[in-house]
Amino acid sequence: MLRYRILIVDDEQIVRNSLRRLLENDEREILLAADLSQAKKMIRQFMPDVMIVDYKLGDENGIDLLPFVREYHPEAMVIVLTAYGNIALAVDAIKKGAYDFLQKESDPALLRHVIDKALEKVHLRKEVELLQLSQANRQASGPIVYQSPAMKRVMALANEYAQSDCTVLLEGETGTGKSMIAEYIHYSSQRKDKPLITINCGAIPRELIESELFGYDAGAFTGARSQGKVGLIEQADGGTLFLDEISDLAVELQSKLLYVLEKGEFLRVGGVKPKKVEVRFLAATNANLQALLQERKFRQDLYYRLNVGNIRIPPLRERKEDILPLARMFIQYFNKKFHKSIEGFTPEAEAELLQYPWPGNIRELRNIVERVLLISKSPVIGKKELRFLVDAQPGGLDDRVCHLEIELGQCDNALNYAIRRIVEHAWELSQHNQSTAARLLGIPRTTLQNYLQKYRLV
Ligand SMILES: Nc1ncnc2c1ncn2[C@@H]1O[C@H](COP(=O)(O)OP(=O)(O)OP(=O)(O)O)[C@@H](O)[C@H]1O
Ligand SMILES: [Mg+2]
Repeated sequence: MLRYRILIVDDEQIVRNSLRRLLENDEREILLAADLSQAKKMIRQFMPDVMIVDYKLGDENGIDLLPFVREYHPEAMVIVLTAYGNIALAVDAIKKGAYDFLQKESDPALLRHVIDKALEKVHLRKEVELLQLSQANRQASGPIVYQSPAMKRVMALANEYAQSDCTVLLEGETGTGKSMIAEYIHYSSQRKDKPLITINCGAIPRELIESELFGYDAGAFTGARSQGKVGLIEQADGGTLFLDEISDLAVELQSKLLYVLEKGEFLRVGGVKPKKVEVRFLAATNANLQALLQERKFRQDLYYRLNVGNIRIPPLRERKEDILPLARMFIQYFNKKFHKSIEGFTPEAEAELLQYPWPGNIRELRNIVERVLLISKSPVIGKKELRFLVDAQPGGLDDRVCHLEIELGQCDNALNYAIRRIVEHAWELSQHNQSTAARLLGIPRTTLQNYLQKYRLV
C-alpha cells in the first residue's frame, strides 16, 4: 500500500488539530506547521505529497510558500485555504502554482473530497514512478550471466520461488550475487510493481534498527517525531522486504521479526494496536547460520521460518565456467560506460582469470575488469595487465588454501585426482621449489619427486 504525507500549515492550533482529525487515517501521515519557516523545514525533511496552507498565517502570507515548493518539491500539491468570499486571492494562488483552493468555512466533506482527489493524482504519479524504477532497476543490474550447471540450478530455483510467495533464504559468500538474485525474484514475481524494500541488518546501528523496521507511534520515546514514523515493514506492504545480512539482526529483534512472519502483523514501537501487513520476505546471509544456531546467536525457529525456500549461491571458484562469460559481459558493460572499445583478453590473460580464486567473487571480478579496462592502452587485455591479480594472490606462500571441487561418481579416480590437485597447488605455490613443496605437503622430497614425475610436472 502506498502511503501519503499531508502537511497542514495554519497558525491556529485549533484549525490544525481539527484538520488533522478530519484527514488522518492509516494510509496518511499528517504533519503540522504553524508558520512558514516550520513549513519549509517540514518540506525539506519529509517531502509531503499534499499541503494545505492557510492564506493568512498571522503576519505572513501562505502564498509565499509556493515559490519554495515549486523549487524544492515541485510534485507536491498545494491547496490554499482562504477566508470566505475572497475569490480574487484564490485565483491568485492558482496562478502561482497552487493545485486548488478552498474556503475556510467549506463543508468538511468538500475538503475531504478535494484531498482525496489530490491524493489520487499523487497515487497515480507514484505508481508510474515505481514502475519506471522497477524497470530501471532491472536494467541497472545488467543481465544475469551464467553458464555453469550450478548457476543454472540457482536460476531455476529463483524462477520457481518467483512464482510463489514463500520466504527464501539466500546463502553465499560476499559478492556471489545474493542481492542480485533477491531483486530478480522480486521483479519476476507478481509483486514486481510494488515496492522492494531492502534493509541491511548489519549496516544500521542496533538502536535504530527496531524503529527503522517497525516504525514508531507518536511520542513513543523522547526525540520521537510527534507524528510517528512508518517503518520499512509497513512501506513494503504489498511488496517484498529483503533482509540483507540477516545474521547481524540482534536476538531480541529476531523474535519480533518471527512474530511478523508468523502472524502477518506487528506493533510499532510504543504502539498498542497491531497493524496488519502483507509482505513477502527474502533474506540473505554470508555467515554460516548453522554455526550461529549452535552458538544460540540465531533463533532456530526464525531460521526455519526463513528457510522455507533456500538458495545457496556457490562461490565463483566453484563455477569456473562462469568466469569468462562474466568477464566478457563486464567488458561490454564498461566499454559502453567509459566509451572504450576493448575487445577482450588474450588466452594467457583468460587462463589467469580462470586460475585466480576470486575471494571477492563476482564483485571482485567486476571491479577488476573495470580497473583494467580503464588503464588498458591496447585493445586486448594481456596477462601483463592482470599482473596485480597474481600479486593480490598472495604471491608467496600465503595462499595455502587448495580449492577442490570433486563430484563423486563423476571422476575416474577421485582420490588420485585430489592428490594430483594438491601436489600441483603446492608445486605452483612453491614456485617450483622441491624442498618448499615437500614441506608444504608434509611429505619427503623423494615422494614428491615421484608425484612430480607421475603427473608430468617436471
Ligand atoms: N551472475 C551474474 N551476472 C551478472 N552480474 C552478477 C552476477 N552475479 C553477481 N553479479 C554482480 O556482482 C556484484 C555483486 O553481486 P551482489 O551485490 O548481488 O552480491 P552479494 O552476494 O549480495 O554480496 P554481499 O554479500 O556483499 O551483499 C553486483 O554488481 C552484481 O550485479
Ligand atoms: Mg548483497
